[in-house]
This record gives sequence, structure tokens and C-alpha cells, in this order.
Amino acid sequence: MGGTVHTPEGPREVDVQIAGGVITAVGNDRAPEDARTVDARGMYVLPGAIDVHVHSRDPGFPQKEDFGTLTAAAAAGGVTTVVDMPNTVPAVDAAGVMESKAALARRQARVDVGLWALLRSGTTSEDLEGLAAAGAIGFKAYLGYAFSLTRKQVHYSPDLDDPDLEAPPDYGTLARLAPVIAELGLPLLIHAEDPGILAAFRRPLETYADLLAARPAEAEAVAVAAAAEIAGASGVRLHVAHLSSAAGLAAAQEAIRAGAPLTLETCPQYLWLCDDDFRRLGNAMKVYPPIRTASDRDALLEGLAKGVIGMVATDHAPHTDEEKAAPFGEAPSGSPGVQTLYVSCLELAKRQGDVWRAPRWVSEAPAALAGLQESKGTIAPGFDADIVIVDPNKATRVRADVMRSRQRHGALDGMEFGFSVRATYLRGSLVSGEGRRAERPSGRIVRPFRR
Ligand code: DOR
Ligand code: ZN
Repeated sequence: MGGTVHTPEGPREVDVQIAGGVITAVGNDRAPEDARTVDARGMYVLPGAIDVHVHSRDPGFPQKEDFGTLTAAAAAGGVTTVVDMPNTVPAVDAAGVMESKAALARRQARVDVGLWALLRSGTTSEDLEGLAAAGAIGFKAYLGYAFSLTRKQVHYSPDLDDPDLEAPPDYGTLARLAPVIAELGLPLLIHAEDPGILAAFRRPLETYADLLAARPAEAEAVAVAAAAEIAGASGVRLHVAHLSSAAGLAAAQEAIRAGAPLTLETCPQYLWLCDDDFRRLGNAMKVYPPIRTASDRDALLEGLAKGVIGMVATDHAPHTDEEKAAPFGEAPSGSPGVQTLYVSCLELAKRQGDVWRAPRWVSEAPAALAGLQESKGTIAPGFDADIVIVDPNKATRVRADVMRSRQRHGALDGMEFGFSVRATYLRGSLVSGEGRRAERPSGRIVRPFRR
């Protein structure tokens, strides 16, 4: 009680009442005599973030991360739901794999978890229906990423002569399956880098400039335009993951103008950093698609300010600090980020003149994408009491020693944001803050609401 609450009508100085894990009242009604109260005077009371782009690495690479460490980092950062990418091992390409992964997540999750499913070039309509029935939030296509049939693993490989590798999903795969996905009412997600363009510009990576030349912005723009064309024709809801360039944004805007059902996501690393930061950060900022130039960053900031880009997710993709210490060309791409999503977005929104945009980027819009808008993303009666108390007068400095993810050094290392997460509540129960760390797995598996 006593905080400034982000309500659908805007920020209000009201109390939030909770019973049975659900919000029962938002207003100035008297609380029941026996109610326990939390003093939030001077604080912001925000809906828990929903990070729709995380890589738990679980199962497959527990040395990089698992559901326990991922969700502990999420809880510490005010993220109450994570939606996990399917490139774990075995990759989530069938209902049975999804069910085992859900069981594994449930045993360790400190926050709620949703699961994306994988779209392969060999995926059938029956596979999609099975995955949807098993609770898939939607389907992710990694354009250009082949599938190892023996290892059940997705990886970037242009070597298509290898009989173990199934060809990557291409625009034909998207066109063939988009109507089925539309019929299921679920979103289609793309990793938007055109494989033909990446193949043409492939080169040894010695410098950061080599990386930018090897994965140019045209690759993103071409993939966005082509996939949007398919979305327009089939009516499938298309979601572009980790938008990284001005050219990609322009292609998306063009497609939206033409009526394509498109949502866009970018990540804090593309909004805070540019190529110049490589001197300071080194491999910690090696991610795919790459962090590009200052003008790309500024275009993305403008897209976010104008609402063309509606959401921010992290692409939390940890590796071990040892793996990241390899020479630039060999070091794996990816950075942790889930723990700093909320504070970094509050700082961005404040600089854009309206701090209350942040919960829309990280909670409301992602809830709609993931089909969770009936239960999450909003502080109103009937919604899950997933609530974050943020101190707007206490800064957070991103330091390795307070990170709960297994990879401690990420792309935002050393940055300072003028907000801190004081407490995170999942369905009314404290999961982090007030001197407490999320230790008990009280997270659940969430499924999309389907019309
Ligand atoms: O940098 C990246 N890392 N980009 C991706 O698309 C995949 C991710 C990973 O899984 O490591
Ligand atoms: Zn990713």
C-alpha cells in the first residue's frame, strides 16, 4: 500500500489487494482487518515483466544455465514470467519433448515459464497441432540454422552436404506452415537474418568490423520483408525477435503500412550500445544479430518511442565466462540480460519522457504476444498478483557479483540505471527481495489463451 501503481488508467496512488494469488481490488477500499500489508510508500508498483526471449539452456547445456539459475535471475530483476526458446537439446520440435521440458522446468522454476516450439524444415501440420496441444506459446523459425538429426540440435551451419543435417527452415517452410499456425491462433517467431546474404558475406572474424560485414543489416531487412509478405498472405501473427537495425525497422514499417500482422521486439543491448562499445566490452557484446552502429541504435530508440517497436525482451543467452573468453572469432554469441531488463527499460522510458512506458514494453505487450493477456501484464482485479516493487530513487549498477545467472559478465556490464527492484511477488508470494532470494521453485508452466 501507499505506492504509485501502474494501472490501465495510468499511474495512481492506490492500494492493491491480493487474495489467493490474484488481485482482488485496486483502489482505496479498506483492507480486511486481518490482511498483511506491504508498505510501498515512495515506490512504484508495477506488473511483473514477461521476458518472451530467454534461453534457459536446459536441458542440454547446464554449465551455461538451467531453469533454476535463469529464473532466480529473473525474479531478482522483476521478471515473473519467462518464455524459453526451443534451441535446447533435444530441441523442442515435438509434443513429447515439450512435455519433458515442462516437467524439468516445473521442478526448478522460481517464476512462471512458457515454452516456444521449434519450426524445422521437416515439421508437419500434425507436429504443430501436437505442440499446440502440449502448450506451445508459438513457433520459432531460425532461418539459416540447420538441424542435426542425431544430436537433435539446432546450429548455424552452411555445410548442407552433411547427411546428419536437415536443411534449415526457409521461406518455403514458412509459407507452407503459416496457415496452420494462423489456424491454431498462435504466433510465428523469426530469427530474421537472410541465410543467402549471410552466406555471401561469410568471412573469418578477427575484428568487430568483420562481424558487422559478415552479418549486415540487409540480411535482417530482407528476412523481415519476406516473412512479412508470407504473414500478410496467411494472416499468421508474425513476431520479429531481436530487431537490430534501422534497415530492418524500415522494412518492418513498410510491411505494417501494407497491412501485415507484425509485432516487433528489440533488446536492451541494441538500445544502449553500439559498435564503439566493443573496445570496452569485447566478447561480452558478441551477439547475433550484432550490435550495430550509433545510427542503428538511434533508429531503434525512435521506433520504440513512436510505438512501432512495441516490446523489449532480452535474448538472455548465457554461455560460460570461460567460453566467452575465447578469441573473438571462436567465442560463442549471446549475453545474459534477464536480470537487468526492467531497470534498463525504466531508465530508457524515463529518458524518453514517460517512465510508465516501460511496463508496457516489458509486461503488457509481451503478455498479448504470448497469449497471456487474460491473466498477466496488468494490475487489475482478476489478474495474477505478479507484482514488482521498484525504488525510483535507488540506482542499480550492473555488476558481475550480483548477477544470478551462470554467465556473470554481460553486454550491459558496468552500466548504471536510476531504479532498483526492491521486491518481486509471484501470484502474491514474495520470490525475491526484502533480503530474500528466490530459493523455492513456485513457478508454474503457463499456456496461451486461445480463442
Ligand atoms: O547471439 C545469439 N545467441 N543469437 C541467437 O540467435 C542464439 C543465441 C544462443 O542461443 O546462443
Ligand atoms: Zn535468442
